[in-house]
Amino acid sequence: MNRRERQRGLLRKMGVDVWTLRGGGVEVAGAEQAVQVEGGESTPPEAPVGDAAQPAQPDESPQSLARVEQAVSVCRKCELHQTRTNTVFGCGDPEANWLFIGEAPGHNEDLQGQPFVGRAGKLLDMMIAALGMKREQVFIANVLKCRPPDNRDPLPGEIEQCEPYLHQQLALIKPKVIVALGRVSAQSLLKTTTPLGKLRNQTHHYGNQKIPLIATYHPAYLLRSPGQKAAAWEDLWQAREIVEGL
Ligand code: URA
Repeated sequence: MNRRERQRGLLRKMGVDVWTLRGGGVEVAGAEQAVQVEGGESTPPEAPVGDAAQPAQPDESPQSLARVEQAVSVCRKCELHQTRTNTVFGCGDPEANWLFIGEAPGHNEDLQGQPFVGRAGKLLDMMIAALGMKREQVFIANVLKCRPPDNRDPLPGEIEQCEPYLHQQLALIKPKVIVALGRVSAQSLLKTTTPLGKLRNQTHHYGNQKIPLIATYHPAYLLRSPGQKAAAWEDLWQAREIVEGL
């Protein structure tokens, strides 16, 4: 199977309509708009935002994922513990090459204690399937382990208090790539206010281990703007090349 055939297969799995252009490129369309991903104009990559410096804290020594999960389950470091139903530690292969990081649990995740179980989660599963994997073969986590009331954006203090848990997860899982899902995830991981559109199309590096990080759209945004699925696919492809050492 050549690259174009593989590309078309992956796009179909993400629920993106595909047809071939006369010039040989592949055009993909969501419900609202069409985006040319090959053989069309490309946007020059933005200047790198710089590596996010994440010095390891003394309390971040790796233990085991089960122990970190236990610590998360009784965490009271911020006020979100007062309104949560369950903590959402994350799920997947503890030795995964891929770590997907969302923003924070929503209503369904809070009820079930699992990340990305709602409609956005179904689309994330399709994105993972488009990469030839199942949810169990990657690790899925969030910047925050507890749901902010009414799904408001995480507060800086909440992100700061929760960050050591993410660092511990990273130190134990040692993924080959991090995929930051959405603006809040990308900006808080990279410690920047740069818009998501400018964080895409480049490889960042996260933390002391300098794990390659790719920023892409949040699946919930893709549900609202399916025309951006092709761009998200480009991001996933870039991440895949990192994992495969290409
Ligand atoms: N959105 C997120 O960012 N994370 C989840 O777990 C669910 C929805």
